[in-house]
Amino acid sequence: MIAASALTLRQQVALLSGSDAWNTQPLPEAGVPSCALSDGPHGLRFQADAGDHLGVGGSEPSTCFPTAVTVASSWDEELAEQIGHALAGEARALGVDVVLGPGLNIKRHPLCGRNFEYFSEDPLLSGRLAAAMVNGLQGHGVGACLKHFAVNNQESHRFVVDAIVDERTLRELYLSGFEHAVKTSRPWTVMAAYNLVNGHPATQHHRLLTSILRDEWGFDGLVMSDWAATNDRVAAVAAGMDLEMPGSQGLFDRDVLKAVASGRLPAALVTASAQRVLDLVARSASTQSPTASAAGVTEIAAGPAASAAGTAGAEATAGAAGTAGAEATAGAEATAGAEGAVIPVEEHDALARRAAAAGTVLLTNDGILPLAVTTKVALIGAFAEQPRYQGSGSSLVNPTRITTARQEFRRRGIEVVYAPGYDPSGSQADPELIAEAVAAARSVDVVVVLAGLPPVYESEGFDRTDLGLPGQHDELITAVCAANPRTVVALSNGAPVLMPWKEAPAAILESYLGGQAGGAALVDVLYGDAEPGGRLAETFPASLEDVASEPYFPGEPRQVQYREGLSVGYRHHTTAGIAPLFPFGHGLSYTTFDWADVQGDHHAVTLTVTNTGARAGSDVVQVYRHDRTGVVARPRRELVAFAKVHLEAGQSKSVAIVVPERAFAFYDVVARDWLTPAGEFDLEIARSSTDIVTTVTVTISDGVTSAAETADTPPIAVTDEQFRRRLRRTLPRPRSVRPFTRDSTLDEVAATRLGRLFKAALWRAAPIDEATRNNPAELAMYEHSLAELPLRAAAIFSAGKLRWPTIDLLLRLFNGIGGRRG
Ligand code: BGC
Repeated sequence: MIAASALTLRQQVALLSGSDAWNTQPLPEAGVPSCALSDGPHGLRFQADAGDHLGVGGSEPSTCFPTAVTVASSWDEELAEQIGHALAGEARALGVDVVLGPGLNIKRHPLCGRNFEYFSEDPLLSGRLAAAMVNGLQGHGVGACLKHFAVNNQESHRFVVDAIVDERTLRELYLSGFEHAVKTSRPWTVMAAYNLVNGHPATQHHRLLTSILRDEWGFDGLVMSDWAATNDRVAAVAAGMDLEMPGSQGLFDRDVLKAVASGRLPAALVTASAQRVLDLVARSASTQSPTASAAGVTEIAAGPAASAAGTAGAEATAGAAGTAGAEATAGAEATAGAEGAVIPVEEHDALARRAAAAGTVLLTNDGILPLAVTTKVALIGAFAEQPRYQGSGSSLVNPTRITTARQEFRRRGIEVVYAPGYDPSGSQADPELIAEAVAAARSVDVVVVLAGLPPVYESEGFDRTDLGLPGQHDELITAVCAANPRTVVALSNGAPVLMPWKEAPAAILESYLGGQAGGAALVDVLYGDAEPGGRLAETFPASLEDVASEPYFPGEPRQVQYREGLSVGYRHHTTAGIAPLFPFGHGLSYTTFDWADVQGDHHAVTLTVTNTGARAGSDVVQVYRHDRTGVVARPRRELVAFAKVHLEAGQSKSVAIVVPERAFAFYDVVARDWLTPAGEFDLEIARSSTDIVTTVTVTISDGVTSAAETADTPPIAVTDEQFRRRLRRTLPRPRSVRPFTRDSTLDEVAATRLGRLFKAALWRAAPIDEATRNNPAELAMYEHSLAELPLRAAAIFSAGKLRWPTIDLLLRLFNGIGGRRG
């Protein structure tokens, strides 16, 4: 491939913006092909024709694996790698070079609308699972994209909000998962987030993108923007952001050329970024095979784009599937889409099914599970027919098939009494549906209730407003449990929920969002054909007040203050001594495990794990560090290592768990380095963040004895002064709304009459079809996204229709004659 330095400056600059929504810019005259990108992360959302970034347009069928929250609950790096491998096979079949994932932002608050797409509240678990997925993808020739870098922990105001976070919290919590994944799996690409971090847009953040990512961590790949996250491309190139996505049809090219001509932007930086685009193209070209066989692809299954599949799509596909194992594959008989579009439907569906069970968390069980096949069962809940199996937004996959729980019962020849119990997209209780469910519950031995969050409750583009399930789900569960206490509740949701009825059912399964085979996996788990292999990768708080970031989330439109510091999830609960609804790391099993011969030092913990029950099963050994040195303020307990162990009945394994050096270190903001305190530490070997089995004490003698943040620093900076001290600077004032700028959102300019007209015009021009109009989740996402869209992003998304002169003229009007309120 040609070197960037052999291209003209114009060609180099052209390379730094995509050609459309999903491809990099080809330069045919220089023999440079384009490179195809596609969402991600739990399946491909490959759009062969026109593209959109919000999941409202259709896409080619591809396997819908469980979403990240479910995969994370497996704590199984091997499984994450296998999913990455399978995704790579599908990507190659569809001609995709880079999959836009995994997403590994920290679940700072349980209400973040996109938590289903992220792994954990813990950076170690997030980083290790993300690295495994990257290895799976890239080991099979398809690039990964770690996203969203960085501190993108909410959907509210995501395009413009400035995350104010102190350096230590940034390093220890929000960056360390990325750091681990970058260093150990060497991703081809990283995506710079929409938001600002401490005053600078993430896409223009030299410290994040160059000093930390490249210089400190050794990242040698390409940084692309999130879709339309670019503010100022000159500043972005200078900061180390290489590729603007989607292509903006030259919107910024002149600025970049002018900046180079005036010497404001060194030409060498443009050449370096262009070279990274060329490197990515070359990497893709060298691994992309012309036929799918190289990726182990055997079955032709995918067809042309079907409609986007949320719950409604599920209904359509599953409805067509009929009974007894005759699940339809989307367009199986149709001819191929892009590049032959061949994917191994059966094999990947089986993997998705296994992954869904592996990520299912058995929260409580009085012994009712697993069920005997002879038990007479009532299946209650419309999710049994219209499953909630993935989240809305850019990650939305058009599945190759869907197996519902009801279909799986039928396939097994098990007759159930079925009652829908609720309207799957509504929230008001329907007394008749509940009465029917109660009658069904009374007529059987065991009841299985499927409940959870409808799609409109959690999505990209907006945050949840409370922790509750829809009222009708709570009412149904309470009524059914009263009628028949031998009830199993199986939940489908992408983030923690409250369970005011927690003590009533005989068992609770957290199925999360199980992907296309989630229904089948649930039945596997109910009957013990698969074990519920999950442990929570997040805390289920007992109430919102117990979430330390609650008073500061999601903050103001232009600023969110991370005053809770490290007090996120179990770090806060264990430090403050608050009992959660269910703790991080918790999950029961169908078998029992014994841990013996536990030994440890500061390099490793070893133990023998024995499966003492009668079934095969898996255990997760968790190692937490408790710093007893008193040198620095720290959360009571932090996960520093873990191992997933699979054991046959009666089998024993000796397990050696490496304790990384970083396990003891904290980030010292004065030394600007990771330091280890001198003194005693406990390594707590545990089944969950509240269930410590054994403690090993280790002593570190050559550590430091003082730190910038002393042990009496309050964990949460409640007062301005405390926050100022932690930030080591004065509190920044949020940017004022007026005068309007290119960064103003459509809702902000809609304070003017002209702005309102402009917003309405954009709404009319939006590609919203009948299907979207009838899909409350998609519609809500679109409304939120449009309201919060800055003018600069509207210009990028317009693909050349809205250019700066028009935007600037409008701004003059909004600020001037059109600027009068009313
Ligand atoms: C999302 C990204 C996604 C991109 C392309 C953005 O809105 O934040 O995660 O990869 O769109 O669809």
